[in-house]
Amino acid sequence: MLEEARRPLVVHDDVEVEEPKAGEVAVAVKHCGVCHSDVSIADGSFPSALPVVLGHEAAGIVAAVGPGVTTLAVGDHVVLTPCPPCGVCPWCIRGEWSLCVSSDSMMTGAHPDGGTRLSRHGDVVYRGVGVAAFAETVIIQANGAVKIPEDVPLDVACVVGCAVQTGVGAVLNTAGVREGDTVLVMGAGGIGLSIIQGARVAGASRIIVSEPDAARRATALSMGATHSIDPTSDDVLAATLDLSPGGIGADFAFDAVGRSALIAAGIDATRKGGTTVMVGVPGLDDPFTYPIPAVLAIGEKKLVGSLLGSCNSLRDIPRLIALMQNGQLDLASLVTARRDLADINQALDDIRTTTGIRTVIDL
Ligand SMILES: NC(=O)c1ccc[n+]([C@@H]2O[C@H](COP(=O)([O-])OP(=O)(O)OC[C@H]3O[C@@H](n4cnc5c(N)ncnc54)[C@H](O)[C@@H]3O)[C@@H](O)[C@H]2O)c1
Ligand SMILES: [Zn+2]
Ligand SMILES: [Zn+2]
Repeated sequence: MLEEARRPLVVHDDVEVEEPKAGEVAVAVKHCGVCHSDVSIADGSFPSALPVVLGHEAAGIVAAVGPGVTTLAVGDHVVLTPCPPCGVCPWCIRGEWSLCVSSDSMMTGAHPDGGTRLSRHGDVVYRGVGVAAFAETVIIQANGAVKIPEDVPLDVACVVGCAVQTGVGAVLNTAGVREGDTVLVMGAGGIGLSIIQGARVAGASRIIVSEPDAARRATALSMGATHSIDPTSDDVLAATLDLSPGGIGADFAFDAVGRSALIAAGIDATRKGGTTVMVGVPGLDDPFTYPIPAVLAIGEKKLVGSLLGSCNSLRDIPRLIALMQNGQLDLASLVTARRDLADINQALDDIRTTTGIRTVIDL
């Protein structure tokens, strides 16, 4: 639990968890990956109500179902999602499921009815990024727990909950990358590597990765990147122009770091008519400015945001698992360390120090 920003997380064994209400399920969490968004909340660069249970990239087993739940049963293996599509709100009706009113929980830390189902010594405890899964039990809307086949290892499936939905979805859903496209991916953490794999699945012909960490550049090349750049020594713009057909720039650029300067770099590196996709989330202390905004109008360049890869989790989690099962996505290689909950602060340090890719907490 994070009690105060910029302080270590504290493990408590006396958090009270309510029974699932109508339409909700209780899930016994088995594994939860650590995402940079957890670190950003812990370090105070993203706002959050406190105290909060972090962790939002989880898989587990349904332990109880609330009244009226017909789609899940006790014992089902599930991947949890921060954006459960309710199916009836204005965004779900438009087909913009990741923007469903239920995804507001990511910011409020509460269920849509305002409750969190979590308390300690009578005080409310909030749900980090809409899930709160660095914990043995999660209470979540039934549509937030997506059933997967029982032969899929849960310690790998968990990364689908955030990194893979976000990265592959940003390519296939938000951007709509097509065969032959040229793609620039800035950052090769769990999100960037999932973008690279999504671009490979989409048939992109050039997948250029810009990443300062040599080990992650090597992993990116093994996962489908066709060219790698070290932004600390190479000129990312010049290299992208050089590698793109006709020297006109990339069709798509993805910021998978969360820095405003990289969003500007993406706009520069895309061709006229190209698209820069903001997947990374810059901190509150990093406002976005672009020196010549007319470039967007005159060049018909597009700048778009992407939340959880614009996924419909009920549709896309089973698809992503199937892509893993038939060998089109390598998700096992994203998990580079496993730690117990007692070592949660070392797990956050793994992200801060760019150690491995994803550290998964065992519960
Ligand atoms: N939009 C969404 O729905 C969504 C979902 C999950 C995470 N995120 C965000 O995505 C971002 C990445 O998350 P992650 O878990 O992969 O983080 P991570 O820390 O594992 O990876 C970030 C990578 O960026 C690299 N990097 C740093 N500076 C760079 C530069 N100048 N150029 C290129 N690469 C650079 C780092 O070396 C690191 O490998 C974060 O901002 C996170 O909050 C967004
Ligand atoms: Zn995340
Ligand atoms: Zn909805």
